[in-house]
Amino acid sequence: MKVLIVGGGGREHAIAYKVAMSDKVDKIYCAPGNAGIAEYAECVDIKAMEFDKLAAFAKENGVDLTVVGMDDPLVGGIVDVFEKEGLRIFGPRKNAAILEGSKAFSKDLMKKYDIPTAAYETFDNANDALEYLENAAYPTVLKADGLALGKGVLICNTKEEAKEGIRTLMLDKQFGSAGDKIVIEEFMTGREVSVLSFVDGNTIKIMTSAQDHKRAKDGDKGLNTGGMGTFSPSPFYTPEVDEFCKKYIYQKTVDAMKAEGREFKGIIFFGLMLTPNGPRVLEYNARFGDPETQVVLPRMKNDIVDVFEACIDGTLDKIELEFEDNAAVCVVLASDGYPEHYEKGFAIKGLESFKGKDGYYVFHAGTKFEGDTIVTNGGRVLGVTAKGATLKEARANAYAATEWIDFSNKYKRNDIGKAIDEA
Ligand code: AMP
Ligand code: GLY
Repeated sequence: MKVLIVGGGGREHAIAYKVAMSDKVDKIYCAPGNAGIAEYAECVDIKAMEFDKLAAFAKENGVDLTVVGMDDPLVGGIVDVFEKEGLRIFGPRKNAAILEGSKAFSKDLMKKYDIPTAAYETFDNANDALEYLENAAYPTVLKADGLALGKGVLICNTKEEAKEGIRTLMLDKQFGSAGDKIVIEEFMTGREVSVLSFVDGNTIKIMTSAQDHKRAKDGDKGLNTGGMGTFSPSPFYTPEVDEFCKKYIYQKTVDAMKAEGREFKGIIFFGLMLTPNGPRVLEYNARFGDPETQVVLPRMKNDIVDVFEACIDGTLDKIELEFEDNAAVCVVLASDGYPEHYEKGFAIKGLESFKGKDGYYVFHAGTKFEGDTIVTNGGRVLGVTAKGATLKEARANAYAATEWIDFSNKYKRNDIGKAIDEA
């Protein structure tokens, strides 16, 4: 069969690698793809938001299945466009992708269906929000309602900071219309865990857990980024936590969406915080995590195409997800200066060192071909993943493999997975 993957980052590279392992697949396209994805897929120069062009391409080329990696096209309704054209596509429709597309929607859903999350209020007027801040507890958390590249969340330690935050989000519109509405929520403490799941509208199957490191600098300092590294599984995701989430969070979310007439098919990514009072939902995403996917999929034993198809067909109850009994760590190699200012266009050396090395992967995030040379083309450049029998071994392997790669302005965090020492 022929598969089209929509996106062009490290997550989509990991999806392409996994799709390429399926016996059923003989051709992969990726739009727009990148220099690493090109090893598995024919990259197509169509942007992820050009739904009509993508659907026309899928039709003309006899694509049997389209898989969407990114949030923007899902929230924008790419699945509805493909379905209208009679094309098979994996992901939630627009009315279900709102689970990620609107924080106010997801908070209201959790409140209505009694799914544990932080207490909150919603505001669509800056004056009301400013008034609310007068008597709020600090720190407090401000969240732009809409998609903001993961940067629409502000943790404010004082009333002054929070007022400034309201100005940034609602008046200066730093994130555009994403800030027309905001959520102000209770600040929670605890460990964060990412849990990805496959959903077919009724049944939900949980993948192995992971943890991301969102801040740019060691010790969780510096600015928020798309993610500087991950490890899987999370030793903090204990059987007790799993049992709690299965009872109070996962299936309840799927049932709530169905009850609202918003049947969810695709990936639900649960961003959880393990608070002293038990697990709470920080956020939902309607897609695979990046770079969580880079540590979760290399450990998955199933043929991923079977799982995608079962989600579309509503037969996920027939599938048993299986993961290897080992661990994986992904260290992101970024351009120094990310997430603010950084230079691009530097030649990347050492990529060939990963060829034929079992358990080692180099997933491309921001790369492109310049002639025959692969050069840096983004803030996050590569995700180096390695497996190991234990998390410690996987971490040592991943850091060793980061040394195989060289490019000007190479930057990485040195403490990815360090938290496991405390587990
Ligand atoms: P989100 O995009 O909602 O996951 O938020 C981004 C990051 O902000 C999370 O990964 C947390 O580290 C932090 N965060 C979000 N909501 C809260 C909260 N209520 N309390 C503490 N930290 C939060
Ligand atoms: N790594 C966090 C995300 O994909 O949203």
